[in-house]
Amino acid sequence: MSIPQHDGEHPFAGKVALVTGAARPRSIGRATALRLARGGAAIACLDIGRPYRDAPAHGTATGDDLADLAKEITALGGSVATAVADVADEDEVERAVEQVSEELGPVTLVANVAGGSGPGFGLGPLVNVPAAEFRRVLDVNVVGTWLVSKACANRMIAAGEPGRICNVSSQAGKRAFPFLGAYCAAKAAVILLTQALATELGPSGIAVNAVSPGTVDTDLINKDSVFESLMGGPDGLAAYIQREIPLGRLQSAEEIATAICWLLSDDARGVTGEALNVSAGQTMV
Ligand SMILES: NC(=O)c1ccc[n+]([C@@H]2O[C@H](COP(=O)([O-])OP(=O)(O)OC[C@H]3O[C@@H](n4cnc5c(N)ncnc54)[C@H](O)[C@@H]3O)[C@@H](O)[C@H]2O)c1
Repeated sequence: MSIPQHDGEHPFAGKVALVTGAARPRSIGRATALRLARGGAAIACLDIGRPYRDAPAHGTATGDDLADLAKEITALGGSVATAVADVADEDEVERAVEQVSEELGPVTLVANVAGGSGPGFGLGPLVNVPAAEFRRVLDVNVVGTWLVSKACANRMIAAGEPGRICNVSSQAGKRAFPFLGAYCAAKAAVILLTQALATELGPSGIAVNAVSPGTVDTDLINKDSVFESLMGGPDGLAAYIQREIPLGRLQSAEEIATAICWLLSDDARGVTGEALNVSAGQTMV
């Protein structure tokens, strides 16, 4: 097989990449969108861009966050399109993928980053979590990842275009964490969804992988240092890190984005069906 060459600085030149969960400041999706843009891709930024109707306390991006991201990508000299959609809603996903494909061209790189869990959104003892919240966690993290992959992969197959998809699981998809049961179940499902998609789509030249981040300093877990407070302040956080994380620090969104972008690049051409730990050693299974 001939190995495609790129200029090193712009590994994604000429490609269109769709990033879900792209808009929240400090998020993994935003870092991914910006890194792909710096690498030369045209970026389709998809985000819910509003609070959850059923869990308004759960932090999400605003429409302004999405517009700001588009401005930042434009300032980098990149092409950009934005789409507002809930990844769990099939009609919204179809419309969004159709719209960005018309604006930027066929999407062949997909980063399924939208997801999470939190207060009012599946967090808590499994014996107490309301069924509607549990289902919503599965809907956003698993069904959403599948719907976006399905919409994009169908178009790649129809066009005879190879592509690459990277899903975002979690270390919580590989081992159990108390009070994160709904999230653990959802992120474990993302890993098997990744493997099943890789098996089915490989013959069409589409690779599908996942990353499993550890404890990442984003607003999902650490808005206004809430994670630090939960650990008992700076000393408690330091003790937690020393006990749990071999590399001795929380991770940054950029570190996760780097791994996502590697899995979306031709450099990972030999990899599919993988769920890569990016956890600073916190999880090794
Ligand atoms: N932060 C961590 O420690 C950590 C660890 C492991 C895995 N993850 C996973 O990484 C991904 C990104 O997490 P983050 O920390 O950047 O979170 P974040 O809350 O900072 O960002 C999530 C983004 O997704 C968007 N979003 C949420 N629900 C959506 C929906 N239904 N449809 C479309 N967009 C939606 C939000 O508006 C936001 O822009 C998530 O899948 C999360 O589960 C995070």
